[in-house]
Amino acid sequence: MILLEQLETQLDALSAKSLRRRRRTAETACAPRVTVDGNPMLAFCSNDYLGLAAHPKIIAALQQGASLYGVGSGASHLISGHSRAHAMLEERLADFMSPHIASARALYFCTGYMANLAVLSGLAAVSGRETEIFSESLNHASLIDGAKLSRAQVQVYPHGDVMALQALLAASSAATKIVVTDSVFSMDGDLAPLPAILALCEKYNAWLVVDDAHGFAAMGEHGRGVLEHFNLSSPNLVYMGTLGKAAGVGGAFVAAHATVIDWLVQKARPYIYTTAAPPALAHALLASLDIIGGEEGHARRAHLNDLITQLRSDLRLKRWKLMPSITAIEPIIIGDNAEALRAAASLYEQGLWVPAIRPPTVPDGTARLRITLSAAHTQDDVACLLDAVNALESD
Ligand SMILES: Cc1ncc(COP(=O)(O)O)c(C=O)c1O
Repeated sequence: MILLEQLETQLDALSAKSLRRRRRTAETACAPRVTVDGNPMLAFCSNDYLGLAAHPKIIAALQQGASLYGVGSGASHLISGHSRAHAMLEERLADFMSPHIASARALYFCTGYMANLAVLSGLAAVSGRETEIFSESLNHASLIDGAKLSRAQVQVYPHGDVMALQALLAASSAATKIVVTDSVFSMDGDLAPLPAILALCEKYNAWLVVDDAHGFAAMGEHGRGVLEHFNLSSPNLVYMGTLGKAAGVGGAFVAAHATVIDWLVQKARPYIYTTAAPPALAHALLASLDIIGGEEGHARRAHLNDLITQLRSDLRLKRWKLMPSITAIEPIIIGDNAEALRAAASLYEQGLWVPAIRPPTVPDGTARLRITLSAAHTQDDVACLLDAVNALESD
């Protein structure tokens, strides 16, 4: 019982600080109109930025994929779990990203979390402890964990601080240098200064690992994410895009020079020692890529950008602060944990589902409402949210 009591004491401490988390249960497909714990809600919390998670063509492709390939892959990729569907998806992804990555190949992973673990531990395996990782301070937890798993020396540079990064790179004599950053910061919505960071990586002969979880498919003329947004290409780039957010399905991919991908297949333990994702998901992702790269994807990105402009221009905040963001992630900083929870609860009572994000996901004193927009929202949906938030802050 002592063991359970230890846990209970710590859980009570979390509750006392308004940090105890709970899950809500969605009973319908991921979409703006969703039934949650029996209540009809208008949701502003998914990362389904293009509104593809319940797209009829992708649903049909998933069903077809299950008919063609069954449900489970049965084994890891290196044993017998690598199917034609996985291979076709990787070819399509490599082709899609090829304007930005020379001799591109792509590798499909079960999740973005695993892809990040694999890239950092895999690249660091080249030089072992002689590796130095330069990690941006607001990086996603999966990158922080990947850096830990790599057992490399880790230097954290302040958010967006290119000068500080330059000083660290200039002082480093590591055999392998890896700079790693989110492209769109998941809790802030702002962009990393990637052109300047890439220039430094080329100057100091460092890899640049870009986690474009929130940019892939949602940004860029054709949906090629931040690489297209900033028009970047370089042999130093190792690109990670997730496929469970704007692409609407699940999993993730790494795109890089063919040699990098071959190395990861040999060495990256989070790739090697896990059962391959169901091939039907890869089959469904082919349909998703058709939409992302086609006219429909273009129209969805244009509508999403209109909604972002509407939200930013019509919010009237006094004490709370809207973050500088041109992306679908539009957080409102409240500060205090309990106040952020109260704000989210009040919106929830009005039928609006907006999550309160608290430490340790964000730094202490920066609890926030994290609004995310989707191309599946209408302008009326956004107007409804604006009315509620504007009224809430003037209470
Ligand atoms: C920036 C970032 N990287 C990686 C991930 C992990 O991706 P996945 O959900 O596919 O594991 C997420 C979110 O989940 C994320 O926000």
